Amino acid sequence: MAIAMTTGYSAQTEGALLCIEAASDWALTCVDQLTAQTSHVLIDYGAADGGTAVGLWHQVLDRLHANQPDAHLTLIGNDLPSNDNVALAENLALQIPREPKPTVLVSARSFYEPSVAPNTVSFGFSATAMHWLSESPGPLDTHTHVLASADADALQRFTAQALKDWTYILELRSKELQVGGRLLTVNLSRDGEGRYLGHNGGETRNVHDQLHQIWRGMADEGLISEEQYRKGTVLNFYKSPEEFMAPLKDTASAPYRNGLRLVDERTVYVKCPYRRRWNEDGDTASFAAGLMATIRSWSRHSFASVAGDALADQVYARLEQRIADAPSEWSLDYVEHHQMMEKVA
Ligand SMILES: C[S@@+](CC[C@H](N)C(=O)[O-])C[C@H]1O[C@@H](n2cnc3c(N)ncnc32)[C@H](O)[C@@H]1O
Repeated sequence: MAIAMTTGYSAQTEGALLCIEAASDWALTCVDQLTAQTSHVLIDYGAADGGTAVGLWHQVLDRLHANQPDAHLTLIGNDLPSNDNVALAENLALQIPREPKPTVLVSARSFYEPSVAPNTVSFGFSATAMHWLSESPGPLDTHTHVLASADADALQRFTAQALKDWTYILELRSKELQVGGRLLTVNLSRDGEGRYLGHNGGETRNVHDQLHQIWRGMADEGLISEEQYRKGTVLNFYKSPEEFMAPLKDTASAPYRNGLRLVDERTVYVKCPYRRRWNEDGDTASFAAGLMATIRSWSRHSFASVAGDALADQVYARLEQRIADAPSEWSLDYVEHHQMMEKVA
């Protein structure tokens, strides 16, 4: 699995918090539609340290308790074994004092595996996590991110892998959901104009191109080998709305056959909070440090895993310098796809 967040995740990712807040209306809609039961299981897939979702789960638990005061609630936080799962357990535990005193659990497994028993989940949620691919679809020799590359062959392979992975994720979730259960996914995506995280259509620099330029420059300087250059790939994919909906429109797909249905979808844009603050205070050093850290939080593993920590640190020193040299040309804007789903009989 080519992903590991750096520590202190939620302190470094103000944008991800805003993305979760932008989905809270649909999360509440989902729990409002749950039928009365003696207990409900809620799960947050790819929760990182859980800090960005504390407010969301407050709201969701309060609403479900208000709707169904006699129901026992269990909240499960899921992420990889390599995640800071102690921090996740601590953030989940912040929910315990509120009525109805929910049970909280950590599932330290991949969301490419089953997480809980079939037919147990009432509400599944995931934010900004399911864009990571389960395996490499083969080489990407000319860039560090396929969507910013001009490699048509690699694009085809990455797209096929992303659709295979997404269909499998939905198949697993469709088994875990109860009939009547809801699934809300909030995923980094690509809009109709080809915009995605770090590429806002030319308003500011493409962040993936910048990372690639730095990485290519380190190869040209002989700091990394050509092989390390080629292996430095951010192994994720930002799907289009049509790609997200495809397994739910295909009546022969495994998730569809398991009863998973599309309820609603939308694309939501979240502007870079670091850039917004710089517009107000003009503090370039803080902007460069903050924006660099948030980009590092999701991309570092792609470079450190092939070239080691010291060379990865150089990538981010150079990135911070580039931001500081031309702050008005930087922003990390999010394009997120929200998809609300239900399991029917
Ligand atoms: C950008 S963070 C998002 C965290 C949180 N959901 C949020 O929105 O702030 C992405 C998280 O997905 C997790 N992740 C990536 N692949 C995963 C997998 N296969 N199974 C579980 N978690 C995964 C990473 O470890 C990371 O913590």
